[in-house]
Amino acid sequence: MTKLILGKDVAAEIYEELRERIEFLKSKGITPGLAVVLVGDDPASQVYVRKKGEMCEELGMKSLTVRMPAETTQEQLMAKVDELNKDSSIHGFLVQLPLPKHLDEEAVINAIDPSKDVDCFHPSNVGRVLIGNPDFLPATPAGVQQMLIRSGVETSGKHVVVIGRSNIVGKPMAAMMVQKGAGADSTVSIVHSRTKNLPEITRQADILIVAIGKPRFVTPDMVKEGAVVIDVGTNRIEDPTHPKGSRLVGDVDFDNVKDKTSAITPVPGGVGPMTICMLMANAVKAAETASGVRL
Ligand code: GUN
Repeated sequence: MTKLILGKDVAAEIYEELRERIEFLKSKGITPGLAVVLVGDDPASQVYVRKKGEMCEELGMKSLTVRMPAETTQEQLMAKVDELNKDSSIHGFLVQLPLPKHLDEEAVINAIDPSKDVDCFHPSNVGRVLIGNPDFLPATPAGVQQMLIRSGVETSGKHVVVIGRSNIVGKPMAAMMVQKGAGADSTVSIVHSRTKNLPEITRQADILIVAIGKPRFVTPDMVKEGAVVIDVGTNRIEDPTHPKGSRLVGDVDFDNVKDKTSAITPVPGGVGPMTICMLMANAVKAAETASGVRL
């Protein structure tokens, strides 16, 4: 029987733990504060930013959403980053990506105080993940790792194949799974759009983590019988039979792959809810570290 790993259930468990840590911080006079900066009016970004703010408030954290117009200059955005770096009521913040094309994302990320970088995008935090001494973990890979740990998937000595090499998911995911410790200790391969004989490699995976951004890219011939498949993809495809005219599918051809796996994440309902959850975990951690107050 295939097990469905549902992000909502795993996230609910983590939120319970976060609530206790937040209560404790608040009992000592510290309210964890998270700020999100949104430049412009990208529709998908607006949805993500709204959800982050709502979750902060639901958890009793301080939430600040900074909306800046699409014409914002680099100098104005850098000034905002500087202001948030200095604001002691804001323990963590992020600048929602992508930014409008005229803005330099790398310069913005580099300007964020690493101790407030809850996205874990600053090079010093990325480096700490690589050497196995992280302050923060990037939200989506951390969410995937928690799903594996909390659904009892053995990772030690297993072959993890990561499909995709983005800075946000593929590369940090691989770096985390190769570390020593719980939910890791894996043998790791990364494959990507230029890999030769990709299915030959993915068929060796005990755990296949897919983040390549191509709808239903992974087909049954690419998956070993009994593998665990984690689908990080969210792609909107046209579907005239749907009320909206479109629907979300993952990077895995779920309907055809599912029966071959021992466990799989659906889209939607799989990894999705974990990203905001782990972002909140980073914000709580930032508040604990800054204040020295920890349950
Ligand atoms: N855009 C898509 N995902 C993310 C994320 O995790 N953080 C930020 N800042 N922007 C994003």
